[in-house]
Amino acid sequence: MLPSNVRDDFPLLARTVRNGKPLVYLDSGATAQKPRVVLDAEREFNERHNGAVARGAHLLAEEATGLFEDARAVVADFVGADAGEIVWSQNATSALNIVAAAIGNATAGVGGAEGARFRIGPGDEICVTEAEHHANLVPWQQLAVRTGATLRWIPVDDEGRLDLDHLDTVVTERTKVLAFTHVSNITGVISPVSTLVERAKAVGALTVLDGCQSVPHLPVDVKQLDVDFMAFSGHKMLGPTGIGALYGRNDLLDALPPATFGGGAVKTVTMEDTSWQEAPMRHEPGTQPVAQAVGMAAAAHYLAQIGMDQVEEHERALAAVLREGVSQIPGVRLLGPVGDADSRDVIAIAAVSVDGVHPHDVGQVLDDRGIAARVGHHCGQPLHRRFGVTGSTRASAHVYTTVEEAQAFVDVLATVPEFFGVRA
Ligand code: ALA
Repeated sequence: MLPSNVRDDFPLLARTVRNGKPLVYLDSGATAQKPRVVLDAEREFNERHNGAVARGAHLLAEEATGLFEDARAVVADFVGADAGEIVWSQNATSALNIVAAAIGNATAGVGGAEGARFRIGPGDEICVTEAEHHANLVPWQQLAVRTGATLRWIPVDDEGRLDLDHLDTVVTERTKVLAFTHVSNITGVISPVSTLVERAKAVGALTVLDGCQSVPHLPVDVKQLDVDFMAFSGHKMLGPTGIGALYGRNDLLDALPPATFGGGAVKTVTMEDTSWQEAPMRHEPGTQPVAQAVGMAAAAHYLAQIGMDQVEEHERALAAVLREGVSQIPGVRLLGPVGDADSRDVIAIAAVSVDGVHPHDVGQVLDDRGIAARVGHHCGQPLHRRFGVTGSTRASAHVYTTVEEAQAFVDVLATVPEFFGVRA
């Protein structure tokens, strides 16, 4: 059970919208609301401790550096990593781009012999899945363009689950990277991580997990999952925008050349050449988003105090209400499976397509009732294409979402076909 007063921790949830209606915020998959402890942590940092990190000899620089590194340790602990295995990034997209761009740099010769283990080229393959949002597809596509490697993908079946029937022919000895989402931001389906990791290991491929939609909602332990890299965002896990993290196994982060270059990441610089710091510093050139890192740690601490098991349990109940509810409305199609009896294989996301009604129109009807949902393709054009639609209307929950709010989405959605006169 969650503490009963969770919602009181989120100031924004108290506001009203559209002529005094209570806000029903069901767009947490895009960005979550922030508890007061996160807002306070950022403000406290800026009001009392702001200073340059790892480049000053004064007290504020010392305090800021300490808080920045403490934040790294908290976020690392939240996902079962060591502090040195967390690289700060701008968000999950930039964390995924760090890996792809660094592999591209290694291929071009950056990082010399140490980076050579990451080189890829013609004849090699990069594998993703059809369920990826653009952040975990486009960087790999473009890496294939840069290096001459071939991009392949694991398809999804009609229900939106990964189709693993041909896994052994898609992921082969030629595969150098297997990048896949932990949880789809459209279907809410949880990927069979252990099967995919086992196959990647059997062929010697690196695994890159997109934890955008899993880290905020499920207990995640990178060592247990046994992935090589994992990307996640601050703002989807109740933290600030402008901050995310890349987990990477120690030995990999230390050998991987930087993706981008600049001060703070270097050991020695001459006019001709540069040597890099150890990880994680070598992957963090330039001034970092320090207050945001402190805020992300406050979010991780907040969630850890509630307990991710409790968060998962709460959201499982919401998943059942949302997914079973919408799947029973005539003229409304849930993208992806309803889920198993306990909703253990899906998270609390429901993306729907309403026959004959544009997703933006569905969104407006919801908004008029105070319900904030996402409309469009949710940065997942290929998966929508797989389902034969261009977009959908998506409800996505978080720790502060109530069963009544999930039910409100279902109830208002049920009025949409008639509202637009499309009910048969
Ligand atoms: N990951 C973002 C979302 O699902 C794009 O809204």
